[in-house]
Amino acid sequence: MAADGRIHHRGYHSEMTRDDRLPRDAQSILELAARSMFELFANASEGMMLVDRDGRVVWINDQYRRFLPALGFEREEDFVGHPVSRVVQNTQMHQVLATGKPILIDLLTNRAGTFVVSRIPLRDDAGEVIGVLGIVLFDHPETTLQPLISKFARLEQDLSEARRELASQRRTKYTFASFVGSSAAALEVKRQARRAAQSASPVLLLGETGTGKELLAHAIHAASPRAGRPFVSVNMAAVPDTLLEAEFFGVAPGAYTGADKKGRDGKFKLADGGTLFLDELGDMPMSVQVKLLRALQEGEIEPLGSNKLVSFDVRVVAATSRDLQQMVREGSFREDLYYRLNVLPIRVPPLRERQDDITLLIEALCEDIAARGGGAQLELTADAQALLGAQPWRGNIRELRNVLEQLALRSDTHHIEAAQVDAVLREAGLPALAPTAVARSVPRPLPAGDLRPLPEQIAELEQRAIGLALAQTGGNRTAAARLLGISRASLYDRLAGQGDLSEFQTIV
Ligand SMILES: Nc1ncnc2c1ncn2[C@@H]1O[C@H](COP(=O)(O)OP(=O)(O)OP(=O)(O)O)[C@@H](O)[C@H]1O
Ligand SMILES: [Mg+2]
Repeated sequence: MAADGRIHHRGYHSEMTRDDRLPRDAQSILELAARSMFELFANASEGMMLVDRDGRVVWINDQYRRFLPALGFEREEDFVGHPVSRVVQNTQMHQVLATGKPILIDLLTNRAGTFVVSRIPLRDDAGEVIGVLGIVLFDHPETTLQPLISKFARLEQDLSEARRELASQRRTKYTFASFVGSSAAALEVKRQARRAAQSASPVLLLGETGTGKELLAHAIHAASPRAGRPFVSVNMAAVPDTLLEAEFFGVAPGAYTGADKKGRDGKFKLADGGTLFLDELGDMPMSVQVKLLRALQEGEIEPLGSNKLVSFDVRVVAATSRDLQQMVREGSFREDLYYRLNVLPIRVPPLRERQDDITLLIEALCEDIAARGGGAQLELTADAQALLGAQPWRGNIRELRNVLEQLALRSDTHHIEAAQVDAVLREAGLPALAPTAVARSVPRPLPAGDLRPLPEQIAELEQRAIGLALAQTGGNRTAAARLLGISRASLYDRLAGQGDLSEFQTIV
C-alpha cells in the first residue's frame, strides 16, 4: 500500500504503488515493499479474494480455494464471476465498495465457520474505488484467538442482556386487559384507572400488598397519551435511602470519583416524556420527600454535584400499601407531598372484597403459569376451587398466584383435587379448612410433649412466621415486615441472624 493509502494495481499484483513526489530509488523501494507485503499476506494469510467494482468475485488464491466446499461450492466457476454477496454469506465486501473505507479487522461468521478478515478498498489513479481486496487472516479464530474471542462473546452477551433488561423495564408489561376481574369492585377500579390514564395529574394507587397496584400503574401508562414514551419505576423499598437521591435526580459528571465519574442520568431524566412510577411511596425517607416535593412543584431537578436546574416532563403514578393518612398524622409522611400526589387516588380492593373474581383469576393465572413454565394448564375440580375461594388471602392475588405455582410444581398431573390444594395451603400457612369450617377456625393447640426451653421455641416460632410472611408476599420483604407488624429494618436484622430462611424465598 502506498504512503497515500492507495493501492494501484495492474493485473492485480504488478505495479503496486507509485508516488510521484518520491525520488526514483525511494519510489522503487516503496514498490518493492508493497509487492513483498502483498506476497507476505498472500502466503501468511489463510486466503485472499478480489472483487471488482460491481461486487463480483474476480480472483481467489489457492488458499482461498480450500474454503469453497465449506461455502457450498464444488467448482471454482460457480464462485468466481458471481456477486460476492451471493456466494459468501454475511460478507461486508460490498459495504467497503460502497463507502471506500477499509475494514481492517473484523469477525465474519458464516456456514464455513468464523474467520478474522480484513477488507481493503482498491483505488485507481484518480482515487476511484475499483475493487476490494479481502483477506482471511485466520480461520479457526476460536483456537488462535481464543481469549480475545471469548472475551468478545462475553461482552456481546452482557450487552444484549443489559439491552433486553432495559427494554423490558422501559416497556409496560401490562394493559387493562391484564387486570382480570368482572366483579363490580374490579370494574370500578378499571373505570377509575382508565379515566386517570387520560389525565395528566398524579395518580395515587392505594391498596394492600398483592392487589395489583403495579399492574395498574403499567396499564395506566399504556392507555395514556404517553404510552410511546418510557415507563420508569423507582421502588423506595428496594433502593437504599442514601442512594435514592442520586437514583431520582442523577449525578453530574465529575461529582464523584470512581464508577460515577462520568455522571449518571436520574430516573426523572430517563422517564422524560413518559411516566415515573413511585412504588412503595410510603417507604420514602423524609429527606427525599422534601426534594421530591420541590422537584414536582418547580418542574425542575438539580442533579447531584451540579448547580444547574434541568426541567423535566414526567407524569407521576405512585403506589403504596401503607396508610399514608395515618403516616401524615404521625409525622412520618409530609402532608404537602401527600396532597401533591393525592390528586387522583384509586383504591385497589383486596381479593376478599371481590371473591366473585376468584374463578376467573384462577383460570387466568393458571394460563399464565403454564405459558411461562411450558407445562399443561392446571384444571381444578369444583371442590378445589371452592377451597381456594374460601381463603382469606391476606397476600391477595400474589398469594393466590404463589399457591397455584406451588400446585403446578408439586403435582404430577394437571388435574387438581381439593386434597392437593389443602396440602399446599397448609404448607403456605393458610387455614386450609373446608369452606364451611372457615368461620370456626381456631388456633391448633401445641402438642403436649413439646416442652423445650422457651427461647428456643420463640426463636423457632419467629423463624417460621418470617418464612410464612415471605412466602405469602412472594419474597417481598417490605410487605412481609408489614404483615408481621415489624419494621423493615428489624425484619432485615432477623433475616441476617437466620441462614436457613433463604429456602422460603426460593420456593415462592
Ligand atoms: N387483577 C389481576 N389480574 C391478574 N393478575 C393480577 C391482578 N392483580 C394482580 N395480579 C398479579 O398479582 C401479582 C401482584 O400484583 P402487583 O405486583 O401489581 O401487586 P402490588 O399491589 O403492587 O403489591 P405490593 O404492594 O406487594 O407491591 C402480580 O403477579 C400480578 O400480575
Ligand atoms: Mg407493588
